[in-house]
Amino acid sequence: MIRLSKLDGFWMFETDDGYKIKIRKADINDREALIKFYQSLDIETIYNRFLSVVRNFKSIVEKITSDDTGFCVVAEFNGKIIGDGEAVFIEKPVRAEVALVVKREWRRKRIGTALILVLREIALEKGIKWGYATISLSNVASLKIAKKMNAEIKRIDINTVKVCLPLTGEKEGCWKGKII
Ligand SMILES: CC(C)(COP(=O)(O)OP(=O)(O)OC[C@H]1O[C@@H](n2cnc3c(N)ncnc32)[C@H](O)[C@@H]1OP(=O)(O)O)[C@@H](O)C(=O)NCCC(=O)NCCS
Repeated sequence: MIRLSKLDGFWMFETDDGYKIKIRKADINDREALIKFYQSLDIETIYNRFLSVVRNFKSIVEKITSDDTGFCVVAEFNGKIIGDGEAVFIEKPVRAEVALVVKREWRRKRIGTALILVLREIALEKGIKWGYATISLSNVASLKIAKKMNAEIKRIDINTVKVCLPLTGEKEGCWKGKII
């Protein structure tokens, strides 16, 4: 059971050990805090998120905080970003690349799961039917979350899979269209 409730314009999630986490959609005013959040991440987390060592986060943050290119939800504790969920359109409005990041010290509290549930809710409102992510096979947490979201999974090389989250349940549409 996941304790996630929707309030007026945001969500509250309570972890099993009693932390109350606020989840909300980010906007242009969060750009600086989002860049700082990324800059605070360790190299392995950045690699798992981007599958490369990205050091300049400005363009991704702009994309996920501009409604025409994508959107982002942030998880906050005491006003500080501790995780985020992102979507960037691939084929508007139906397909988007999706990603999650939770700060290492906050992991295994189901914050990643709460973020994907909120991300899905907003994605559905925007008409997104399929969410995609490229994940390393060693990334157990992401693969578990993908499976819980009923993902279609395609092996793309020895270490990596591409997952498709059929947000409306239409699995058959996963591998059609413009998928990168
Ligand atoms: C992926 C990520 C966001 C998950 O965040 P999280 O808050 O720890 O996720 P959750 O606590 O919701 O865990 C999801 C599931 O994976 C399991 N899990 C998490 N970490 C695990 C680990 N290291 N080993 C085994 N299982 C693990 C959890 O137990 C949970 O399963 P359950 O619901 O059946 O109990 C986080 O690990 C992360 O930021 N990773 C680096 C960036 C990344 O890989 N992003 C995804 C690629 S786009």
